[in-house]
Amino acid sequence: MTTEVLNLLTYEFYANGEWKESKSGETIEIRSPYLNEPIGKVQSISQEEVDEAIHFAQAAQKGWAENSLQDRANYLYRWADELVNMQDEIAEIIMKEVGKSLKDARNEVLRTSDFIRYTVEEALHMHGESMKGDSFPGGSKSKIAIIERVPLGVVLAISPFNYPVNLSAAKIAPALISGNAVIFKPATQGAISGIKMIEALHKAGLPKGLVNIITGRGSVIGDYLVEHKGINMISFTGGTNTGVRLAKKAAMIPLVLELGGKDPGIVREDADLKEAAKHIISGAFSYSGQRCTAIKRVLVHEKAADELVDILKEEIEKLSVGSPEDGCTVVPLIDGGSADFVQGLIDDAIEKGAIPLTGNRRDRNLIYPTLLDHVTEDMRVAWEEPFGPVLPVIRVSSDEEAVKFANESEFGLQASVFTKDINKAFAIADKIETGSVQINGRTERGPDHFPFIGVKGSGLGVQGIRKSIESMTREKVTVLNIAD
Ligand code: NAP
Ligand code: G3H
Repeated sequence: MTTEVLNLLTYEFYANGEWKESKSGETIEIRSPYLNEPIGKVQSISQEEVDEAIHFAQAAQKGWAENSLQDRANYLYRWADELVNMQDEIAEIIMKEVGKSLKDARNEVLRTSDFIRYTVEEALHMHGESMKGDSFPGGSKSKIAIIERVPLGVVLAISPFNYPVNLSAAKIAPALISGNAVIFKPATQGAISGIKMIEALHKAGLPKGLVNIITGRGSVIGDYLVEHKGINMISFTGGTNTGVRLAKKAAMIPLVLELGGKDPGIVREDADLKEAAKHIISGAFSYSGQRCTAIKRVLVHEKAADELVDILKEEIEKLSVGSPEDGCTVVPLIDGGSADFVQGLIDDAIEKGAIPLTGNRRDRNLIYPTLLDHVTEDMRVAWEEPFGPVLPVIRVSSDEEAVKFANESEFGLQASVFTKDINKAFAIADKIETGSVQINGRTERGPDHFPFIGVKGSGLGVQGIRKSIESMTREKVTVLNIAD
């Protein structure tokens, strides 16, 4: 699976149940975001190898779909068990590769094994339906439709760096349980974690060809994969620009896109401000804000703003900042370019009159948690997704203004509303244009069986265990015509 040259491990890609070096002879060096040194190399595979992998997947899928559901379930249960067995090894790689604390990395692995088990159980309890012909005017009792879900074929799973195991398995598990084969393209920064996760699947004895891991830069092989005629469905998680590009290229196949966000935390003047601040800080700064669901702006009523901002400042200054190896909450961003981008948003806001209350300090790609007060609509940070530890506070004078500001965003993933007035909470939730609204809680994806939806620039289609299975299958109707 790996070769070691000058102490640097070179990871192979996985196709047709075998670990292979690419015939391209090219590899990509993966550097740790916080160690500032390479931690391994992955294969940069060629178009010819992409073709072969898709061919293997197509060949394996037919037999897999014919297996009993219980049989498929057993492989997936074994995969979940192997992930638990390998939790320390995989967590260590996640930490080194994407700079997530060891505790969060281990939680990601365990969350993934729970996700896989729940996916199996959901699938085991999904049944088709039947319809009688005579329920339609003029229809005949002698016609009965049997409606079942059938797999789509080969699913292309493309995942982002920030949850390199969980968001990959969240595509692979529903695809496999419902009888599909998978071409898995991990984020390049995250590919080693993805490879370790697939090692667990290999150990579980998954039949060859069903899951193939394609490593290589999205900018090099992405378009080729997306436009490939052998792909029957794409499940993508990543940035909005990448998702929009992909949607324009993929023709006549189902797509599920989970994209960026600019989730607002709306704080009414009647909110419990200490409680709201706790959720906002955890929502905004966990893993340095590198979560699609991070709270990325606060829209606070002007009467509560000074008090909220004081609490936020005090609590943000208590956050641990530094290395993921020390379990810090705020850790170096995934690369220098991301840190430059976040710093650019902070600088732009300050130039235009925002007041930095804490943070605005940088050490390479480590950005200290930054609170910006008096952010206004002419500032980029009011609208753009930082994917970093900066929290803009925008003061509003009414619920209507908060809703208007929230909805003017190009994104529509989630929003939080903090208030003691449940009627007002529902009234605001009703008007917010996002996939989900959290009342008195931080924006977040889980529990993972809840539907997870991005609207506008935040996505297309629905994830969440049952919904993911549905998205990777289609209905098929067989009509029984009973002879008179
Ligand atoms: P990204 O740069 O868009 O990359 C995502 C994936 O797309 C990677 O595997 C990347 O490969 C691949 N890719 C790049 N160019 C491609 C192309 N032309 N065709 C096909 N695939 C291509 O996103 P990221 O930086 O990894 O993740 C951060 C973003 O993801 C944020 O915007 C965040 O909000 C979003 N996100 C959304 C959700 C959600 O559920 N809504 C969850 C997590 C993250 P390479 O790595 O090789 O470039
Ligand atoms: O980054 C996007 C993830 O789907 C967010 O998951 O809310 O559990 O951190 P999370």
